[in-house]
Amino acid sequence: MSKNKLSHLAETLIASEIVKLGAMVKEKIAAGDHIYNYTIGDFDSKEFPIPEELKNNIINAYTEGFTTYPAADGELDLRKAVLSFVEKNQGLKYGTSEILVACGGRPLIYSIFRSIVDKKDKVIYPVPSWNNNHYTHFNEGEHVQICSLRENNFMPTAEQIAPHLKGATLLALCSPLNPTGTVFTKEELEKICDLVINENESRGVEEKKLYVMYDQIYSALTFGDTKHHDPVSLNPKMRDYTIFVDGISKAFAATGVRVGWSMGPEYVINKMKAINSHVGSWAPMAEQKAVAKYLINDAAVNSYLRNIKSEISYRLINLHQGFQQLKSEGFSVDSIEPQAAIYLTVQINLVDKKTADGKLLDNQAAVTEYVLSQAKLALVPFGYFGSDRENNWYRISVGCCKKGDIENVIKKLREALSHLS
Ligand SMILES: Cc1ncc(COP(=O)(O)O)c(C=O)c1O
Repeated sequence: MSKNKLSHLAETLIASEIVKLGAMVKEKIAAGDHIYNYTIGDFDSKEFPIPEELKNNIINAYTEGFTTYPAADGELDLRKAVLSFVEKNQGLKYGTSEILVACGGRPLIYSIFRSIVDKKDKVIYPVPSWNNNHYTHFNEGEHVQICSLRENNFMPTAEQIAPHLKGATLLALCSPLNPTGTVFTKEELEKICDLVINENESRGVEEKKLYVMYDQIYSALTFGDTKHHDPVSLNPKMRDYTIFVDGISKAFAATGVRVGWSMGPEYVINKMKAINSHVGSWAPMAEQKAVAKYLINDAAVNSYLRNIKSEISYRLINLHQGFQQLKSEGFSVDSIEPQAAIYLTVQINLVDKKTADGKLLDNQAAVTEYVLSQAKLALVPFGYFGSDRENNWYRISVGCCKKGDIENVIKKLREALSHLS
């Protein structure tokens, strides 16, 4: 293979480590190893099929010949359907020129960064968080990482963010957060909004504003008493500075269908549209027509969401209880009560323990490998989400978890833990 030098970006970009880990685990499974693969933030479509009505709408849309280029900002019927869905769920009112549709959340995040962040601009984001490190790298921005803490459910706080606002152009927030499955409290998000508004009001007309990318792609998946909050609903002044990221990928287990949307100030949305047009990252025409029809079918949407939330929360709660049981038995593990999304945050604190054959688990990578080889449990360490490599917290994703496997997962983990000294 040729080793000729490529662009600085190509030479320095790190491919998604989670995808790499997932592929490695899949290879082991293909070779006959029975592994509980809870790495990828995706769904097993047998456990979590997309809504039946959506599937039929897609098939019908192709049959009806919806196979051409869609409108650059998304088909009007889809934009209208999304806006009514958002208004029903969050009470937010946006116009059809303040929304952009794309093939999922990723191209929207890319175009938000591209529209706002120049080389050396400060981008503030929490770690752990999903992919902000890579998108910041894409733009050669200056990484300002906020190390969120266990006592705050691994959500960043206003106090942590405040010292970094001067000169920053983007604050990348996500709630419910990937990888933690936790959310902002109303009070904390309000404080963060106040900071952003004060900062922007203090800037001169020539200076770029500080924008908030608010990724709420998991917002429909909250459990129990957990409520989703967003900056614009909490403080209308945030409308000028907030760009939302959202879509059907997670709420409707439709990661492969590829429909996402952003709402925000019209002039930002227009720039994002121009960028996305050059990349060609429109959602496919037929899928747009299908989602437009589906999202206004309240009965189908509500029934699907009720079911998927109950299926996901069952898995998260049972795994959480299993980890708490192991903790109560004296093993060095812990977990955070699940609030939202498809993720459970667990701690596996085994560095410096010895395996049955006398091998020292001398770093977190060795612990991850031990849990994989002995408990057959594949998890993603927080180190893959920008945290320190020695961080001993992990993400469990339940999109591929079978309910019937949970008891066995905890049993196997107990066995693996009890062989350590
Ligand atoms: C927080 C967050 N935002 C956005 C995305 C991107 O979603 P999509 O598959 O729609 O590109 C993901 C995917 O895992 C995610 O976890």
